[in-house]
Amino acid sequence: MNFNLPPPSMDILDQLTELFHLNGHTVYEGRREEPVTALAHALQCAQLAEWAEAPHTLVVAALLHDVGHFIAPARGADAIDDVHELRALGLLATAFGPEVIEPIRLHVQAKRFLVTVDARYAATLSPASAHTLSLQGGAMSPDEVHLFEILPYSAQAVALRRWDDLAKQPGRRTPTLGYYLSLAETVRRGQPLDTRKAIGASDVA
Ligand SMILES: [Fe+2]
Repeated sequence: MNFNLPPPSMDILDQLTELFHLNGHTVYEGRREEPVTALAHALQCAQLAEWAEAPHTLVVAALLHDVGHFIAPARGADAIDDVHELRALGLLATAFGPEVIEPIRLHVQAKRFLVTVDARYAATLSPASAHTLSLQGGAMSPDEVHLFEILPYSAQAVALRRWDDLAKQPGRRTPTLGYYLSLAETVRRGQPLDTRKAIGASDVA
C-alpha cells in the first residue's frame, strides 16, 4: 500500500475525504492481502452497520475504523503489529466523541476477544486477519476477557468487528463515500438526522 497524507491544516472532514481519495483505491499486500480495496472495505463495513440499524455514531466508526492504515505506516508491517487501530485516534478525536473513537480503538481487541469466546469465530477470519491476529496477541487470557467485557463500548467494538470481517465481498454495491462522510459531518455536529431523507441512501456507488 502507498501512503499519502493531506495537509494537517485542512478541516478534519476534508482530511478524511482526502485520505480516502488518496489511499482508498489501495489494497493490502503481502500476508495482509484482502480481496477488496480499502475504500470498498470501509463502505461495506458502514453499510453492514447501517443494515443492522446501528446508531449513526457506530456507522461512522465502521466507516473510519481502518483509517489508521492510511497514517504513518509501520515499517516491516508484515511481521509486526502495526497498531492501526490507534494511529488515527488523535485526528479523529478532534471531531468525534467516544461513541466513534472507542469502538475503533477496541476493534482489534474485539477480534482477540471473539477468538477466545466464540469457538466458530476463528474459522471465519480471512487469511490476512488470521495472520495479524498472531501479531496482535492471539487469544485472550481469562483476565483479559473479563477486563475487555467491562470496558465501555466493548459491545460496540465486537459488533464493529463482526461487520469488519464480513466487509470483504468483491463487487458488493454500497452507498458512496460522500453519503457516509455526510453522515460523519452530522455526527460531528451532534445533529439528529434522518439519513435516508437528508443524504439520499439511493446514492449508491
Ligand atoms: Fe477492517
